[in-house]
Amino acid sequence: MTKVRSLSNPWFESVAVAQRRAKRRLPKSVYSALIAGSEAGVTLADNVAAFAELGFAPHVGGASASRDMTTMVMGEQISLPVLISPTGVQSVHPDGEVAVARAAAARGTAIGLSSFASKPIEDVVAANPQTFFQLYWAGSREQIAARIERARAAGARGLIVTLDWTFSHSRDWGSPWIPDKVDLKAMLRMAPEALSRPQWSLEWIRAGGPPDLSVPNVAPPGQPPLTFFGAYGEWMMTPPPSWEDLRWLREQWHGPFMLKGVIRADDARRAVDAGFTAISVSNHGGNNLDTTPASIRALPAIVEAVGDQIEILLDGGIRRGGDVVKALALGAKAVMIGRAYLWGLAATGQAGVENVLDIMRAGIESALLGLGRPSTAEIVREDVIVPPGFSSRG
Ligand SMILES: Cc1cc2nc3c(=O)[nH]c(=O)nc-3n(C[C@H](O)[C@H](O)[C@H](O)COP(=O)(O)O)c2cc1C
Repeated sequence: MTKVRSLSNPWFESVAVAQRRAKRRLPKSVYSALIAGSEAGVTLADNVAAFAELGFAPHVGGASASRDMTTMVMGEQISLPVLISPTGVQSVHPDGEVAVARAAAARGTAIGLSSFASKPIEDVVAANPQTFFQLYWAGSREQIAARIERARAAGARGLIVTLDWTFSHSRDWGSPWIPDKVDLKAMLRMAPEALSRPQWSLEWIRAGGPPDLSVPNVAPPGQPPLTFFGAYGEWMMTPPPSWEDLRWLREQWHGPFMLKGVIRADDARRAVDAGFTAISVSNHGGNNLDTTPASIRALPAIVEAVGDQIEILLDGGIRRGGDVVKALALGAKAVMIGRAYLWGLAATGQAGVENVLDIMRAGIESALLGLGRPSTAEIVREDVIVPPGFSSRG
């Protein structure tokens, strides 16, 4: 009986359920590209495990009847302190980032759009004006300036610069094969996987054909899009930016400006000096140097160093509303989610991303009620129990 209900009801009650649906729905290689996590996956696991080490200290009696979650991030008012983190992942759903942008708009929050996204920024901004464009340092200064100019012309409200990416992408459990182009040879190789996931295949057939794996936001407007590996190769060949380069970038972009991937207090101070508006304390969802501790472990020291000088966000391991509240208690202004919404997207498209945001909202609301706080702005450090050595573990 329960099984029949769950099959006919597209709604899911938790991110874990969405993940199981994504696993059933996606071809194995697409699903494993979402799991990702470099090398042994120690950081990937710690991002989630660290939240479970933090406890709540709830109150009873005297709770407020209303609970407000409205938050300002990078100059944007959002209805809950959860944003969409940029993910360059293709093939999950034919509507891709446009579906994600619509879902975020429907739930009153902002989206970070990856340089490696599958949909043009113009379409994403049309679906959600609260879009921040995410940039890797790739190509010449002229090429980077042209990308920024395109994002500005499209109406992006902010820029996210992601720096925590290395070449350590080998995985002990084996990376999926990703073709450079989806030509006949690639389609034949992918056919057994695609046939094992008829719903996913049907969606793509209805949308006009298999995913083409191109990245339309890296080339200047009007130019043919690069392939995923073409863009990746350009990034690999580009010398990493100096802090001087980042100051130059800041001069090119006058609006809100986020550095994503900070894990150390000294880098957070440098981000303040370079003129960033915000940082995201992040280890790229466990896709940077493996054994880097969970981002939530790094948060308190960064908040202590620069909490009054820059907006601090966190991403990595957020799977429920309670995790969001724990991050706020340790000093984050908001969080960004990655895999959680990708699993929702895989499960039921736009509705699935809305479902995930609703799960986050309900979990935050529940925690606010339990903690006796009338708003997310009033969450304090004492609302969570931090075990001794939390920040140095992992
Ligand atoms: C499949 C995948 C692709 C990603 N691609 C990008 C990207 O293109 N740009 C970026 O800044 N971060 C990227 N990230 C990192 C996410 O923005 C975010 O930091 C991470 O997913 C947060 O961890 P979580 O998945 O546990 O929520 C990616 C993450 C995943 C899982």
